Amino acid sequence: MTFVEPQTWHHGLVARWWSLFRDSGPEIAYFRQFVEEGQPALDVACGAGRLLVPYVEAGLDVDGCDVSPDMVALCAQAAEAVGASPNLYCQAMHELDLPRRYRTVFVCGGLGLGSTREQDQQALRRLYEHLEPGGRLVVDNEVPYSDATHWGRWPSGGRGELPEPPQPHGARQLGPDGDEYALESRMLGLDPLRQQVAFEIHASRWQGGSLITEERHRLTSNLYFCAELVMMIERAGFTDVEVRGEYNDLAPTAEGAFLVYVATRE
Ligand SMILES: C[S@@+](CC[C@H](N)C(=O)[O-])C[C@H]1O[C@@H](n2cnc3c(N)ncnc32)[C@H](O)[C@@H]1O
Repeated sequence: MTFVEPQTWHHGLVARWWSLFRDSGPEIAYFRQFVEEGQPALDVACGAGRLLVPYVEAGLDVDGCDVSPDMVALCAQAAEAVGASPNLYCQAMHELDLPRRYRTVFVCGGLGLGSTREQDQQALRRLYEHLEPGGRLVVDNEVPYSDATHWGRWPSGGRGELPEPPQPHGARQLGPDGDEYALESRMLGLDPLRQQVAFEIHASRWQGGSLITEERHRLTSNLYFCAELVMMIERAGFTDVEVRGEYNDLAPTAEGAFLVYVATRE
């Protein structure tokens, strides 16, 4: 197959799904401790505001940016609903150019999506440039071996069934608006040489039992091992990169699906 060009799927119905159903997770409390210790903070790839909105609701000084105009609009709405009006920007992180400098810059679930590796390196440099001296960068990243099925696609012979066939509609979830929503995704391709995976997502919405909207979007994701991401963060200008376990500040283990990278701008 021709590998899909870098792109993200956080638009339209997928963005709506995030704003309706993704409002919890251990990341919220975990990243918050860094924000409390260093403000102002910037939430890069803030999405619909899962982290940013509770932070600004609590009075923390946090700006946000995201490449998806739909996500940014939903984030603004959610912030307004809690009486806050944070500075929100629609920018890709590798082109980040904001008027403010920050004590904390954090990225939760956003690095490597819909970008090239060169853009990811450039993004880390832009994040460095947006920190005040002494400010901290906190980035999480899912390890390439977190999912046994996906990992099984890496060896020669493991990718014969790609692209995966389209799935039937996933389980419907009832939204607060009374409509039902479903999402299901499938792997289109995995390129071990480029360490990049491509997925397609199928999003559906029902009103009064009738299917009213269906969308398909694609997402590419660059896959990073721990040692290479440490080197990339160092190459961006940081000197003391620390790797921590999955949202727990403990030493990382090979069992965790996510690693958290913490680095300070000197
Ligand atoms: C998995 S969501 C996470 C959203 C939010 N950080 C959270 O944890 O709820 C990924 C977000 O990254 C954004 N994104 C993807 N690529 C980006 C890029 N190159 N620059 C900025 N944002 C990006 C998407 O639009 C999406 O909102």
